[in-house]
Amino acid sequence: MTITLKCLTCQTEYPADDVRYRCDCGGLLDVHHDLDALRPLVSRGLFDGRLGGAPGPHDVPTTTSGVWRYRELVLPVNAGDIVSRREGNTALYRHPRLSEYTGVTEFFAKHEGENPTGSFKDRGMTVGTTQAKLMGARAVACASTGNTSASLAAYAAMAGMPALVFIPAGKIAAGKLSQALAYGAKTLQIDGDFDDAMTLVEKVCNELGVYLLNSLNPFRLEGQKAIVFEILQGFQWNPPDWIVLPAGNLGNTSAFGKALFEAKELGLIRKLPRIASIQAAGASPFYRSYKTDFREHITVKAETIATAIRIGNPVSYERAIRALEWTDGLVESVTDDEIMDAKAMVDGAGIGCEPASAASVAGTRKLVRAGVIHPDETVVSILTGNLLKDPGATVAYHTGEWENARLANAPVKVAADVDSVRRVIETLI
Ligand code: F0G
Repeated sequence: MTITLKCLTCQTEYPADDVRYRCDCGGLLDVHHDLDALRPLVSRGLFDGRLGGAPGPHDVPTTTSGVWRYRELVLPVNAGDIVSRREGNTALYRHPRLSEYTGVTEFFAKHEGENPTGSFKDRGMTVGTTQAKLMGARAVACASTGNTSASLAAYAAMAGMPALVFIPAGKIAAGKLSQALAYGAKTLQIDGDFDDAMTLVEKVCNELGVYLLNSLNPFRLEGQKAIVFEILQGFQWNPPDWIVLPAGNLGNTSAFGKALFEAKELGLIRKLPRIASIQAAGASPFYRSYKTDFREHITVKAETIATAIRIGNPVSYERAIRALEWTDGLVESVTDDEIMDAKAMVDGAGIGCEPASAASVAGTRKLVRAGVIHPDETVVSILTGNLLKDPGATVAYHTGEWENARLANAPVKVAADVDSVRRVIETLI
């Protein structure tokens, strides 16, 4: 099955092995699948038949990976060429306290923090690094608020390719920085924010012939579509009413829309869930544009505790608008206090996530209170990253550094003798 790169703006098509991230007109590119040719080849049964068992010594990614299980809809490639770490296969949680908190009985959290490097980025990176290898890239690079760099570093190391990551100095969570360094990526701390780093890395990649693996790269988004395919399959192809997700650079919003559109076109599902993209109030250019019906393309100087989505000029802007059009979607914003309280709820349920992820839970709660989401609808919210990614934010919340923490669980100081400990414990349980 052949694929091409197709411009969103002017529809020009390029061969899939062209190293390019934009059309000559400057427009964003899609990986374009011939859906008419695919239709007779894919079915619910095909994908259900690939649901695997326990990991074994002779596993190949085409059976074990929650991305490559859907390979016809992702990237046609030989199994031997795939760079994979058994990504995907993430849990779909429900918990009475989260249902109560959000106000939705059928509330589910899809935990993408259970991917190999602790975020959904691995779904895109398995495809991006596979494509980089096929193209014979001399090195791979990205700008990142942290998770992309962690994922890129790991997958590049697996593939034996040098990795360069551009990160905003001082604004990346400790867990993520430690991963990039540990996996051996050459790490450039940029004296600027993510948006500066993003502009820089695109220029540098084009100049030096290094393969760019930000979500500007359309192959990344093909992998991230598998989050949606896995949700649909998990619900026996009976889609939920809503998929709610955090939004920063808008890669996931774009990928989700494309996945849903293609799944419907291919007859895998009959109805489309609505997408709700949730931004942090201090980093909400897409929300503000949405409020103008996208007549104005707004950019901001971003600031939020949720450093993963501290982005003021999202790259996939046009692709994300299209995703909302396809799915009757919407955009909402939530404050940092709402994010941190929602995170404390997710953490306290024993599930746990990083701050940006909790925007999806805070957003659900807000949309239910506003009467947009109905309490009897089914909602899947995406937890994009693992709790351990940002220990700093979690500790600050629970130890009094975060002023408005409503759900703080502060450690208790106690003298080192049994009587003191007994007295304290009696007040605690
Ligand atoms: N949640 C987490 C945990 C993220 O790391 C990101 C993006 C998002 C949500 C937003 O997703 O960009 O597709 O809208 N992190 C990127 C990075 C920017 O560099 O790791 P998006």
